[in-house]
Amino acid sequence: MAKLLTIQGGKPLRGEVHVRGAKNLVPKSMVASLLGSEPSELRNVPEIKDVEIVTNLLSIHGVKVDRDAASGVMTLDPRETYSAEHTEIDTHAGDSRIPILFCGPLMHKNGEAFIPDLGGCRIGDRPINYHLEVLRNFGAVVDKRPTGIHISAPKGLRGAKLELPFPSVGATEQVLLTAVLAEGITELKNSAVEPEIHDLIAILQQMGAIITVYTDRTIRIEGVSRLSGFRHRSIPDRNETASWASAALVTEGDIYVRGAAQRDLTAFLNTYRKIGGEFEVDDDGMRFWHAGGPLNPLVLETDVHPGFMTDWQQPMVVALTQANGVSIVHETVYENRFGFTEALTRMGSSIQLHRECLGSNPCRFGQRNFLHSAVISGPVTLHGADIDVPDLRGGFSHLIAALAANGTSNVTGIEIISRGYEHFIDKIAGLGADISISER
Ligand code: EPZ
Repeated sequence: MAKLLTIQGGKPLRGEVHVRGAKNLVPKSMVASLLGSEPSELRNVPEIKDVEIVTNLLSIHGVKVDRDAASGVMTLDPRETYSAEHTEIDTHAGDSRIPILFCGPLMHKNGEAFIPDLGGCRIGDRPINYHLEVLRNFGAVVDKRPTGIHISAPKGLRGAKLELPFPSVGATEQVLLTAVLAEGITELKNSAVEPEIHDLIAILQQMGAIITVYTDRTIRIEGVSRLSGFRHRSIPDRNETASWASAALVTEGDIYVRGAAQRDLTAFLNTYRKIGGEFEVDDDGMRFWHAGGPLNPLVLETDVHPGFMTDWQQPMVVALTQANGVSIVHETVYENRFGFTEALTRMGSSIQLHRECLGSNPCRFGQRNFLHSAVISGPVTLHGADIDVPDLRGGFSHLIAALAANGTSNVTGIEIISRGYEHFIDKIAGLGADISISER
């Protein structure tokens, strides 16, 4: 039965939440363990749906995964891996995009891999053309079938000179996970350099990989013939941290995020301060609160790291509905990441979407038919509404809006949010929100 979350808004969120390992790193580190000839240990693992999906996918390939949920310690033993049935992969992949990252490791282990129809959040087409192109360059044979994509490496995988059309996080991870055991040298230009990529590189280096990152977005990987295991503590989830920080701002509350780290949030924190948020940092986490007085409008463009991340855009848009004046947000990473604003408009926001690039950086979507710029006028009084969550980040932003709004909101589709936010209902309740959950 589907869950219904009922929120009586208008109470400032105050108190403490605990943020654990990054959703955009932990599942990929788990895939990396497949490359090893020995067991690995991963710490700071959160209880989220994406971790569950990858646990199941690894298990059907013979990897023994043990996890202590409370301590967040996971061990992964890949010493007896084998090919899985396509139907089993299909069943366990759910709507995750992670299966695409199994290709390199499974080809190294078993000579072949299978990817079912990929899901992920509804935030654009989310194609996998970069992934398939780099895999072909390593020597893989890609066979598209009605049930999914079958990939094999009849002659083994060889290092290659590669350049991505856009610094894609997933395609960079694909290259790393494939090149480390490929024969010879791989050079990847225009790679993503997100903190989660650096953490994955640290893991692969521990396993025995030789990887050099240059300042011009080039990564060079010298293939080795064998990798061991790793012992690693995941970096904290900077997107979850930014979400709680935004919730503190919009509800005029005060939240201490235990486990948060300042280092990978530079662009977010600059924006947070400009709009009117305050933060302080200690060794165990970060505190976020509303500085008092009206919030300031601003012009914001999302970008790849070290820019303002696309996953911070949605909670920040909710904050901008409370700013005193007109703000502009230009989304340059995904073509269709403003779908969540429809519910905000029903809640009383004034948000117009435009096809033009309204920032200073023209992006890939400017000449095409995508509503990828938003003009937000504030401040408005938000009121409760019935909301069906469209995607992970948009969904959490709806929760923030509902928590700040006057009146009652009924939210369905909240299962999507558990893909990346650990125990979010308990956390919201623990911050003093007036919420209840029922089945329907
Ligand atoms: C990762 O997605 C994250 N997901 C996303 O977070 C995040 O928003 C994104 O990186 C950007 O930082 C995970 O790590 C699981 P991309 P990924 O490849 O790797 C285009 C969240 O809510 N592209 O960097 O799939 C693509 O359409 C999720 O936590 C192609 O055209 O993102 C997009 O416009 C959402 N062809 C751009 O590149 C391809 O083959 C960047 O995507 C691959 C990507």
